[in-house]
Amino acid sequence: MIPTKLYFGHAAEILGEVLPKGRVVVITDENLLRLYPELVRSYDHIIIGIGEEVKSLSTVARIYDELMAMGADRSTFLLGIGGGIVTDITGFVASTYMRGVAFGFVSTTLLGQVDASVGGKNGVNFDGYKNIVGTITQPQFVVSDVEMLRTLPERELRAGMAEVVKSAVVGDRELFDFLVRCDYSDICSSVESLRYIVSRAMEVKMAIVEEDERESGKRRLLNLGHTIGHAIEKCSSCLNHGEAVAVGMSLIARAACGLGVLKPSDAEVIDSLLLKLGFNLDTPVSMAEILVAVRGDKKRNEESINVVLPVAIGECEVRKMRFEEFEKLFV
Ligand SMILES: NC(=O)c1ccc[n+]([C@@H]2O[C@H](COP(=O)([O-])OP(=O)(O)OC[C@H]3O[C@@H](n4cnc5c(N)ncnc54)[C@H](O)[C@@H]3O)[C@@H](O)[C@H]2O)c1
Repeated sequence: MIPTKLYFGHAAEILGEVLPKGRVVVITDENLLRLYPELVRSYDHIIIGIGEEVKSLSTVARIYDELMAMGADRSTFLLGIGGGIVTDITGFVASTYMRGVAFGFVSTTLLGQVDASVGGKNGVNFDGYKNIVGTITQPQFVVSDVEMLRTLPERELRAGMAEVVKSAVVGDRELFDFLVRCDYSDICSSVESLRYIVSRAMEVKMAIVEEDERESGKRRLLNLGHTIGHAIEKCSSCLNHGEAVAVGMSLIARAACGLGVLKPSDAEVIDSLLLKLGFNLDTPVSMAEILVAVRGDKKRNEESINVVLPVAIGECEVRKMRFEEFEKLFV
């Protein structure tokens, strides 16, 4: 795998240095066009709508149409400017248009910067299942401009913090301690602090992806809190992805204590950090409903499930469990 180059700083300046000389087409969404018109209008551009419904094969088909109408060929470079939805779609279009063209991202949400933009997974939703159609293809570069996070709605910023906590619990005790020491508002108002948390969280993910790009082993660790988080998202529309992952992390940490693999004091410190960051850790629907949704997840192999358990702050393990065993962790 050719590692993605990661850049931190002003997007426009960095793009001037890293984009290839030939034709560049930007794919972005309506909000980014409204908020950053100069950046977007510097290139040929294709605008998509907002929201998870847009992450579909019909949007991909419309982008193919527009690329063909523009005369985009195999030498065209696609630049996704946006959050996870834009980068997932751009990566998928770039991996498939004319059997693959080069691409890169300017990631503009906290969740995108620490998670969605890195690792090469891309794709769209299909038949009611999230991210069920896609490829794993690495972008050439990801630019993270934390100044762009200033325009991000507060709820979206906070949601991204859940993925930062996840990275810390999976593989970076120092990042975790930093988050415990600092105030949420101080982190969000400091470019240095934001760059620090984004780069540390990205490094956790990149190191894992470099070892296991196709998720046959270690990459599964990055699903900490996600099995339950995805199920919560399916059952209830009142929590966004990050909020649901926060609840998932809290529940699985407590389950890990029940199994005797995590100290109760570590589960408490995870909970208190999530609460300090403003997450509500109550389940929005009953545990029984959540478990039914876990069973329905197409990513599950047969009757067993790969469960990511925290074993310490900064260390997790994957344990294959029969679904019944998993269920018992929550009774
Ligand atoms: N590929 C992966 O590995 C991976 C990992 C995690 C999540 N994802 C995917 O990412 C998606 C969620 O990404 P997201 O949370 O970034 O959501 P998103 O892309 O929908 O962005 C959230 C909202 O913020 C707006 N926005 C983006 N940047 C902005 C900015 N700088 N200022 C103001 N508004 C801005 C967007 O227009 C949108 O309305 C999901 O579809 C999820 O499946 C992918």
